[in-house]
Amino acid sequence: MDIKIHVEEANGNLNTIEAPTDMALSLMEILKASDYPIAATCGGMALCASCHVEVLDNTYAEEPNDAEMDMLDTLPVVSQSSRLACQMPITEEMDGIRIRLMAEATME
Ligand code: FES
Repeated sequence: MDIKIHVEEANGNLNTIEAPTDMALSLMEILKASDYPIAATCGGMALCASCHVEVLDNTYAEEPNDAEMDMLDTLPVVSQSSRLACQMPITEEMDGIRIRLMAEATME
């Protein structure tokens, strides 16, 4: 099935994109494919933080893994709802999730 993901950019623009759940893609890959400015220089290894997002609704309950936690700990701008999109597989449970792109804040 396709799920909907609501994406808020740093400038406040809000768009809804669709993503298939059956192609083993991560949220980072979907955002890149949708032309959002995510460098993903580490290729999705939880090492560059260019895919930093904040999850703006509280229905998404998956916890960050250890590698993701370690990377988030090093960022200057981070919140309780910060995640690395490359560590978030697209799943049916994610349908309707709202996220904010945080890469610019992370790189400052
Ligand atoms: S793509 Fe590098 S940390 Fe996610």
